[in-house]
Amino acid sequence: MVILGIESSCDETGVAVYHHTQGLIAHKLHSQVDAHKVYGGVVPELASRDHVRYISFLVAETLSQAKICVNDIDAVAYTQGPGLIGALLVGASFAKSFAYSLGIPAIPIHHLEAHLLAACMACPEIEYPYLALLVSGGHTELVQVNALGQYEILGQTLDDAVGEAFDKTAKLMGIPYPGGSKLAALADAYPPSIPSQLKPFPRPMLDRAGFDFSFSGLKTHALNAWVKSDKSEAIKSDIAKQFQQAIVDTLVAKCGRAVESTGLKTLIVAGGVGANYSLRKNIQKLMHKHSGDAYFPALEFCTDNGAMIAYAGYLYYSTFATNCVDTDLQILVKPRWPLTHE
Ligand code: KG4
Ligand code: ZN
Repeated sequence: MVILGIESSCDETGVAVYHHTQGLIAHKLHSQVDAHKVYGGVVPELASRDHVRYISFLVAETLSQAKICVNDIDAVAYTQGPGLIGALLVGASFAKSFAYSLGIPAIPIHHLEAHLLAACMACPEIEYPYLALLVSGGHTELVQVNALGQYEILGQTLDDAVGEAFDKTAKLMGIPYPGGSKLAALADAYPPSIPSQLKPFPRPMLDRAGFDFSFSGLKTHALNAWVKSDKSEAIKSDIAKQFQQAIVDTLVAKCGRAVESTGLKTLIVAGGVGANYSLRKNIQKLMHKHSGDAYFPALEFCTDNGAMIAYAGYLYYSTFATNCVDTDLQILVKPRWPLTHE
C-alpha cells in the first residue's frame, strides 16, 4: 500500500510517500519563512498563494524521489483541519482532485492527530493506551490515547499555546520571526556556570489540581523583565533561559501528575515544541524516574511536515479501509476541529 500525504495547514507545504513495508520512502517540505518574515508573522493570504505556487511541483519532486509514478499510489491523505482556511483549501482541493483523477480514495486527516501519531512512525511498537503531550504553535494538550481515533483530553491551555508563548515572547524581545526556536537556542546558549540576574519566573497553574496550563502570564513576566533590563545580549539569553525553564518545569510537572493519576508508563511528546532540547531531556528524566518510556518524533517531524500526514493516512486506511475515505466531491475543510473529532 502506497499513501501520498499532503500538508498545507499553515506556513509549510509538506508532501510525503509512505509505503506499508518500506515505511517513509520520500518527503519534501517547502517552508514559507522568507515570504512571511518581513511581516513578523504568518500572513494567511500569502500562505495560501504560496501553497498554490509550490504544491504541484513538490508532489512531482516527491514522487520522483520515491521512484514511483502516479499509478502506484493507492490513496491520498490530506490535512482537513485545523488550520488557516485558505491554506487548508489549497491542500484539500489539490488532494481530492488528484485522487479523483486517479480513481483512488482521498483520506481527510486531523493535523494534530497526525502530529500525535508521528512518534509512532519510528517506533511502531508503542502500545495503546498511552499519554501524549501535544505542544504546537496553536495547541497545548495533554491527552490519553486509547486507540487510533480515541482521544481523551486530560488538560489543555486556558490561553496561549506553548509555541505561541515562545513566539510572542521572542517578538517582544525583538527576535525576528520565526522566533520560538531562536529563543530556545538563546536559552540553551546561556552558560550554566553563570548565575541568573533575575528573580525566578513563576510556574503557572502548578498550585491548582488537574492538568490544565496557562502561559500568557509568563510572556508578560518575560516582557517586564526585558523592559527593566539593560537590553544586553546577556540579559536576553538569561530571560530566554528562565522563560524556557518555567515552561519546561510546568509541562513536566503536569505530565508527572498524569503518569501518577492514570498509571500509564508511556508518554509521547509531539508538535513543534517537541523539538525543544530541554523539554526532551527533562521528559526523558521524568519517565526514567517513573520506570516508563518517553518517545519523540525525529526533530524534522516535530514541526509541520507531509510525512506525518502520509503516515496517519496509512494507519487510517489500513485500519478502517473505506470507512475513513472522503467520498463527497465537495471540498470541505475544518479550520477549527477538536482532536476528539466531535
Ligand atoms: O507543530 P508546528 O510546526 O505548527 C503548528 O501546528 O502550530 O509548531 C510550530 C511551533 C512554533 O510556535 C515554534 O515556535 C515552536 O513550534 N517551536 C519551538 C521549537 N521549535 C519550534 N518551540 C520551542 N523550542 C523549539 N526548539
Ligand atoms: Zn502543526
